[in-house]
Amino acid sequence: MTRTAWLNGVFVDAGEARISPFDRGFLFADSVYEVTAVYNGCLIDLDLHLRRLERSLNELGYGTLPDPAELARVHERLVRDNRLVEGYVYLQVTRGAYGGRDFVAPPRPVLTCFAFAEPRTLLDTPAARNGIRVIAAPDIRWARRDIKTTGLLAQSLAKTEARRRGADDAWLVAPDGSITEGASSNAYIVTREGAIITRRLSNDILAGVTRATVFRALAAEGIRISERAFTLSEAHDAAEAFSTAATALVTPVVMIEGEPVGGGAPGPVTRRVQMAYARAIGADPEMIAAFGAA
Ligand SMILES: Cc1ncc(COP(=O)(O)O)c(C=O)c1O
Repeated sequence: MTRTAWLNGVFVDAGEARISPFDRGFLFADSVYEVTAVYNGCLIDLDLHLRRLERSLNELGYGTLPDPAELARVHERLVRDNRLVEGYVYLQVTRGAYGGRDFVAPPRPVLTCFAFAEPRTLLDTPAARNGIRVIAAPDIRWARRDIKTTGLLAQSLAKTEARRRGADDAWLVAPDGSITEGASSNAYIVTREGAIITRRLSNDILAGVTRATVFRALAAEGIRISERAFTLSEAHDAAEAFSTAATALVTPVVMIEGEPVGGGAPGPVTRRVQMAYARAIGADPEMIAAFGAA
């Protein structure tokens, strides 16, 4: 089956989609993106993703913005035309191509907009069942991690290093020893007293949409998440750890830098978070209950 993508207002065969090598997304990473999860054929939190996209574009001073209603229709159609049941829709917006390489951004850009759909199991994965192993990598990214740009080289290198060292992912460590977030996820620990901790929102981290939904889902169950920085050594001492992201939902972290977290298996608090999130997206929490806990 051919895959339908969307490029600059037109639905095209994904293999036929072409953009200019002069595109500012390619030359300068002058480009933002969103990844929206699809579960049971439904787009999860699309409104929050489109709002964050608009914020990213505004923070970068794009004088032109795509129409969010059109983007929503495009997402729905990509899910339909590609018969997507579980997976995600990727959307990227760049400041366009002008046949040259000028550092100065155009005041009223003609945007390049690209979107495609990708099937992927999100909820019942080996990572969700058994947890993942992460390395700690220095956070060498720029100072505006709250803007979701495609300048992802630091994250790509950290994840590649994790793979080289036999781990699954990387958590990023600031010069002061605190963990900012995962390479493509928000990071949490559960203390031995049962408190769930994640870093407060600031320019240091991306305001995850999955994070926001987890906060809301847990609040509905009377559970509060403490927002503060935590160190790598606190993570080593934690009872549990987990991460959240649209493409991995809630993922237990069972090993950090080769040392097991708590019992080295997904713990009961993490399972509860996974269940609350499953409920929030209309999935059956019993599926998570069947994963078991340490
Ligand atoms: C650096 C970073 N932090 C956090 C997240 C999680 O954000 P979301 O839950 O919106 O996918 C991502 C997702 O790609 C990310 O790249």
